[in-house]
Amino acid sequence: MEFRRVTGLPPYVFAQINGLKAEARAAGRDVVDFGFGNPDLPSPDVAVEKLAESAHNPRNHRYSASRGIPNLRRAIAGRYKAVFDVDLDPETQVVTTIGAKEGLTHLMWVLCEPGDCAVVPSPSYPIHLAGPGFAGARVITVPVADPGASALDPGEQFFAGLEAAVREAPTRPRAIIVSFPHNPTTACVDLAFMERLVGFAAENEIVVCHDFAYADLGFDGYQPPSILQVKGAEEWCVELYTLTKSFSMAGWRVGFCVGNAEVVAALTKLKSYLDYGTFQPVQIAAIVAMNEATDYPGRLRAVYQSRRDALVEGLRRIGWEVPAPRGSMFLWAPIPEAYRERGSLEFSTLLIREADVATSPGIGFGDNGDDHVRFALIENEMRTHQALRSLKRALTKLG
Ligand SMILES: Cc1ncc(COP(=O)(O)O)c(C=O)c1O
Repeated sequence: MEFRRVTGLPPYVFAQINGLKAEARAAGRDVVDFGFGNPDLPSPDVAVEKLAESAHNPRNHRYSASRGIPNLRRAIAGRYKAVFDVDLDPETQVVTTIGAKEGLTHLMWVLCEPGDCAVVPSPSYPIHLAGPGFAGARVITVPVADPGASALDPGEQFFAGLEAAVREAPTRPRAIIVSFPHNPTTACVDLAFMERLVGFAAENEIVVCHDFAYADLGFDGYQPPSILQVKGAEEWCVELYTLTKSFSMAGWRVGFCVGNAEVVAALTKLKSYLDYGTFQPVQIAAIVAMNEATDYPGRLRAVYQSRRDALVEGLRRIGWEVPAPRGSMFLWAPIPEAYRERGSLEFSTLLIREADVATSPGIGFGDNGDDHVRFALIENEMRTHQALRSLKRALTKLG
């Protein structure tokens, strides 16, 4: 049998690391897991309580609205106003998605057709690189940041890559996918970068899809900008917002696509054929999270920031120089010089085998990622210190 849409997908190198992790655990070893960016912190109590309460109401057991119930769309518009001072019309500029991942994938379906192309930074979150392909479109990659300077604003280098990509593309790209704070490189940008990007989109008539998964995870006082804060951005831009990281609600699958009304309408139409919306009690609980647990993203941010500090300081203390991320929930660590040639898959494998520490090999995020491994900040500080002790032992032994 042939499965054209999936056979071409690159082998998921994370599966190999997960296999090793499972093997080590089956052998009774205690693996400290910085691999998968799956938040370990609980969802807000008010949301859990509301979910339980509304699940008891049979009215909520029926099909819901695939575009999201009106109060949910109002709640996200309220959050955008409060946090970013962005006005969104909940009727025309908001559609609920089953997480940002589903939203992004189906956005590509409405924007791209076979023969089209889309511009995507590399390395990137895997669905950014795979999504256009599901719609039959070709991906043109641009480097997202200078490897080694990954915590810095990607600025000039990024726009040079973008301009070259658009110039050399066989047809005018239908979409540019970006995401800042960036997974995996942790690159962060300021509003001036977003202004330039919106200008670029308008000049070239290309839709920008900004995946804002780490909207609320900026450190040391840094607030990541929404692309919609730029005047006129709604002409060419949409943004994906998700409760996954901001409210630690990963399993609930609540996301949004907001911004350009035409794109939102197209996605709404497609989704009306594909799904009946997230389970209504989940939507109701998401409203409560956004309206009542307004301090929750800030509390999570403080936890991630202090984990970042523990990991960055600890790695530097054992002689592994890493940049401190300004945002996201990751650390993008250049592989130490002595091991760099072996590549990220071999180095990640070595860290599991010799130190019982799981990381994600950078190559899993695209071509430009092979000099790095990614740590997700999903282990507490005590476990982080345990990992640092075994990393020190292993790296000293290996020389
Ligand atoms: C850039 C990016 N987008 C989207 C997601 C997933 O978001 P969601 O759970 O809303 O699908 C992640 C999760 O790691 C991510 O890093």
